[in-house]
Amino acid sequence: MKITIGSDHGATELKEEIKTVLKEFDGMEINDVGTFGTEAVDYPDIAEKVCADVVSGKADRGIVLCGTGIGISIAANKINGIRCALATDVYSAKMCREHNDANVLALGGRVTGFGPAGEIVRAFVTGEFSGGRHARRVDKIMALQDKQGK
Ligand code: RB5
Repeated sequence: MKITIGSDHGATELKEEIKTVLKEFDGMEINDVGTFGTEAVDYPDIAEKVCADVVSGKADRGIVLCGTGIGISIAANKINGIRCALATDVYSAKMCREHNDANVLALGGRVTGFGPAGEIVRAFVTGEFSGGRHARRVDKIMALQDKQGK
């Protein structure tokens, strides 16, 4: 699996921790688009970089992080083709794959600790979309883009 990951300055430490967790998976390819320092950056720019890889198919999934995970998840969900789930617990991370076919996970570096975040990421990586009635609902989500004329 190929995962592109990126964070603003509010979650660079958690990003490094998550990369360690991702390396547990055989064959995992990680593309880290930054940021790497403590200098403030704007989370929509990071969301755009990560989501570009997901939309183009360069990445199978994306992980975006900011201080709360809120701003960057909102930004990611403005991009056509992205279904970004902000998860603060393992159950939500599992369900965002099974029911929502989320292709991007958002985490908050100032909200979720390293241990829980690792479990959330493992659930996101291993979770499979259930399809069936959930596919109809996901199709309707994606149709909203067209209805909005985006
Ligand atoms: C940056 O200070 C902070 O606003 C950002 O990381 C994020 O929490 C926004 O939602």
